[in-house]
Amino acid sequence: MSVSSQTPTQEKAVQLGIDLEQLPSHVAVIMDGNGRWAKKRGLQRLLGHREGYRTLRGVLLNASELGIKFLTVYAFSAENWRRPEDEVAGLMKLIETAAKDELRAMHRNNVRVQVAGRLDEVPPSLRKALLDGVETTKGNTGITFTLAVNYGGRAEIVDAVKSIIEAGTKASEITEETIASRLYNPLTPEPDLMVRTAGEMRWSNFLIWQSANTELYVTEKPWPEFDETELLNAVLTYQQRTRKFGAVVE
Ligand code: FPP
Repeated sequence: MSVSSQTPTQEKAVQLGIDLEQLPSHVAVIMDGNGRWAKKRGLQRLLGHREGYRTLRGVLLNASELGIKFLTVYAFSAENWRRPEDEVAGLMKLIETAAKDELRAMHRNNVRVQVAGRLDEVPPSLRKALLDGVETTKGNTGITFTLAVNYGGRAEIVDAVKSIIEAGTKASEITEETIASRLYNPLTPEPDLMVRTAGEMRWSNFLIWQSANTELYVTEKPWPEFDETELLNAVLTYQQRTRKFGAVVE
């Protein structure tokens, strides 16, 4: 690739030692630490989520300009309903507003939007905003941006099993591929890299089927402080690892 055809993010990546030919195709992110970020500043938790939204806009752009093909983010987990009512309502509203406000820019930037999760359980206006985004951008050929909303990895597997049974598949015919083909977005490749912010070393029920061979990268930075440099550090660390997929690598 000639220098002139590189985006500023790619130029920075190359300077850091990233090989643009070996990028992770799919990056998944657990955006943790919004609440702690806000608390440290004496702010309400929702302001942390709002700042997290700003961060996400930047990271989507950076990931796209770097050449990442799929970015999946955990916006609201199936477990997040246990939070205080006002925080749940605020998060729902924030995701809805974001989905509406960002749609035009995402479409212009050739972003294809997908969703993952039990959308039948979220407020109808949010469901509509998300599905409008999916419909409007379905023909786009740039980065695929998947919003996991009311998402749980175990719930996804349960839903897959239900649909296999409903299709009348015989137990003896079920393979790993059968289950993979019934996940929410079966055409999306498994994540190569899972990033988690705010230091926690957990999977938190995110993409648990798809992450069997995924590299995990944890940074201490809370999500509102995650930026282009952090993303590039995660990719560089990923490239320094040896992925073995259970085999022996000399
Ligand atoms: C975890 O931080 C974050 C969430 C539960 C929500 C993530 C949502 C956003 C980044 C808002 C914007 C999203 C979209 C799609 C517009 P936490 O509250 O668990 O942080 P804590 O562990 O410090 O309390």
